[in-house]
Amino acid sequence: MKKTSALRNTEQSHQIAKEKEDGKEWRRSEEQESGAEDIVTGCPKESDMEVVEGSITLKLPEGSNEVLIKNLYLSADPYMRILMSERESPQSLASYTIGSPLAGYGVAKVVESGHPDFKKEDLVWGIFGWDEYSLSPQHKFFSKSSTLMSHFPTILEFLVCICMPGMTTYAGFFEIGSPKKGDNVFISAASGAVGQLVGQFAKLMGCYVVGSAGSKEKVDLLKNKLGFDDAFNYKEEQDLDAALKRYVSDGIDNFENVGGKTLDAVLQNIRVQGRISVCGMISRYNVDQQEGIKNLIHLLLKEVRMEGFNVSKFYHLYPKFLEFILPHIREGKIMYVEDIAEGLENGPAALVGLFSGRNVGKQVLLVARD
Ligand SMILES: NC(=O)c1ccc[n+]([C@@H]2O[C@H](COP(=O)([O-])OP(=O)(O)OC[C@H]3O[C@@H](n4cnc5c(N)ncnc54)[C@H](OP(=O)(O)O)[C@@H]3O)[C@@H](O)[C@H]2O)c1
Repeated sequence: MKKTSALRNTEQSHQIAKEKEDGKEWRRSEEQESGAEDIVTGCPKESDMEVVEGSITLKLPEGSNEVLIKNLYLSADPYMRILMSERESPQSLASYTIGSPLAGYGVAKVVESGHPDFKKEDLVWGIFGWDEYSLSPQHKFFSKSSTLMSHFPTILEFLVCICMPGMTTYAGFFEIGSPKKGDNVFISAASGAVGQLVGQFAKLMGCYVVGSAGSKEKVDLLKNKLGFDDAFNYKEEQDLDAALKRYVSDGIDNFENVGGKTLDAVLQNIRVQGRISVCGMISRYNVDQQEGIKNLIHLLLKEVRMEGFNVSKFYHLYPKFLEFILPHIREGKIMYVEDIAEGLENGPAALVGLFSGRNVGKQVLLVARD
């Protein structure tokens, strides 16, 4: 018997339970009544999640074609909050259910496989439960990572750069944003998982790049390490419109990560035939009353294209993304900053911290090193 920390689906685990181990799991708290429209209201709290101990077998049932994996790194992402509000979940993703484990992107190692495409010790990335061990049907894997990983010094760097945020950045910046050399690109939540890569992709394109972030430490990171031309702390600005005019006087194209007041200020400063790539609206995920955007008229007056996108619709471009990014990685032209929380027990704090800006860089949860 081995003591384990796990965030797992107890139902699945019972199905395969043969050799039992003591364990724990993180799952959504049952504090709130089931059937409520929103599982979580307002800003998520650590107490919205709970650790649950259980048991799991490390052996597949006879004849199973599934894959038993051990999670190594899990990715804490803002969209996970949207999955806590049933009415707003994107079509491509199912809302969480109370009492079940959270699920999200991660990198894992195959413990045992009943599927011919996977074998023991393979590294895979995909969508897994927030648990130590998961039984995953093959379709939840995006890719065997072992070959790709050879381009990176560590699995962690692979996760930060090549998994979901990297693909999001590629799709949002190149496919939706249609950038041109010389564009002025403004990025909100610029020091985060997506923002830091957008800024670097934009610099590689020959754009002028300005970012906003929520602390002096983050602003320094953008200017001194990530190669942004300029950056400012939006929390110190009374008037975001004036701030944007100060930092980019001749108008911007935009990579929109936060929505709300920032988006409104962007609309006032967008240039003629500008593009707004709507990647995220994290400032709106926790509020019930949405604020009105006042400056939409600029879409008309300046012939602007504003388009939202969901990364899940762009994975067919993954080979193209790799063709773009891998040479830059090899040449050391892309940097990545990550923020690691260690142990599943620190998962809720890591997730909640995304909404107060506690993370500096990509927020990752280290579950096991190998
Ligand atoms: N469209 C897609 O398929 C897709 C895929 C991935 C991510 N996204 C979206 O992209 C955005 C960035 O995601 P990420 O994974 O890169 O997260 P991240 O930037 O690493 O972390 C979230 C950051 O958002 C900022 N933030 C939190 N609340 C805010 C608020 N009320 N106003 C302004 N900024 C706030 C915080 O930074 P500060 O300290 O700077 O405030 C926080 O560190 C999110 O909106 C996310 O939902 C979309």
